[in-house]
Order: sequence, then structure tokens, then C-alpha cells
Amino acid sequence: MTVMEAIEARWSVRSYADRPVEPEKLAQIMEAGRLAPTASNEQKWKHIAVTDPELIKKMVPACKNVGWVGTAPVILVSCSQGDRTMVCGQSARTVDCTIGMSYMTLEAIEQGLGFCWLGWFYPEKVREVLNIPDDYMVVAVATVGYPAHSGHRSSKKSTEEVIVYNRMD
Ligand SMILES: Cc1cc2nc3c(=O)[nH]c(=O)nc-3n(C[C@H](O)[C@H](O)[C@H](O)COP(=O)(O)O)c2cc1C
Repeated sequence: MTVMEAIEARWSVRSYADRPVEPEKLAQIMEAGRLAPTASNEQKWKHIAVTDPELIKKMVPACKNVGWVGTAPVILVSCSQGDRTMVCGQSARTVDCTIGMSYMTLEAIEQGLGFCWLGWFYPEKVREVLNIPDDYMVVAVATVGYPAHSGHRSSKKSTEEVIVYNRMD
């Protein structure tokens, strides 16, 4: 599968089959996160794979009590240590972790899995469930697993609407 094929196959999976993710597949996913770029190569991050069913259960209330989150065999959490603002004004750590999570989730597609990003999480509750130290910021959370059914991504704006070459005239 090419990267583009993975991008095209992706859709937000919100219901997972009762099937575990093979450890070797999960290891590949985590490796994709480890190898992702970070600002100044600082790598001040941890990518957490939550696989313990008891912890997944406890993650549901930390994820706005969304029931289907508890059907996922894996929940990925990317957190960053400290932060600094880059010249561009953006948080280096937020950008790092979102890139890391993107790499991991695309690798999940290559492994035949599905995922869904979650903005519906309470960072302090996630911290408590996963024992994340205070100097880490919980940036990104996503569910991963085999989809319970087939699906397709939502419609996207046209090339004309979102792609610009050179100036935005
Ligand atoms: C930053 C971010 C946060 C998201 N948060 C949630 C969420 O909390 N719950 C949810 O069901 N989907 C969430 N999504 C998934 C989006 O709703 C989904 O990507 C969008 O509707 C487009 O659908 P598609 O991914 O199938 O193309 C999130 C996606 C992103 C990128």
C-alpha cells in the first residue's frame, strides 16, 4: 500500500470489531510515531498505546463518555513534555504530537486497521487514568482497531476550494 492509498482508504471509524490488534502491527504503528519529525529533533514526547481493557474502560469517561470509544482495542495518546513557541507562533509540542499521531494513524491504515481522532477528551482525566506526569501535556488521542463494518470518509471540499498554488489571489 502506498502512502496515497492509505490516505484514500482512511475514514473515521466509530465502531470496532471485537478483535484485538496484533502486537506486531501495534509495534509498527508505534514505530511510525517514534520516527516522525519533531521541531529541532527535540523528541520531547511519549506516544502511549493503551491496550489494557480495564484502562480502556476507564478512558471512556475521560473521552466525554462516548460509548464507542470503549469498543476500540487500542487507544493512542500522544503527549509532550513542556512546550516552546516556535518563531511562527505555534506550539512546537502541539505540532510535534499531531504529526506523530498522523504518522501512527496512517500506519494503522497500512496495517488494515481504522482509527478516529478525538477532540472529545478531558486532558486531566486522561492524565489521571494513564498516570501521565504533570510536566507532560496531553495533546492528541485516537482510537484504533478493526472496523466493525465498512465505511467511507466524509465528503471533502473540491481541489478548487482548498488548493492554492502560489498566491491566494
Ligand atoms: C482534530 C480532530 C478532532 C476530532 N475529534 C473527534 C471527536 O471527538 N469525535 C468524533 O467522533 N470524531 C472526531 N474527529 C473526526 C472528524 O469528525 C472527521 O475526521 C470528519 O468528520 C471527517 O470525516 P472522515 O474522517 O471520515 O473523512 C476529529 C478529527 C480531527 C482531525
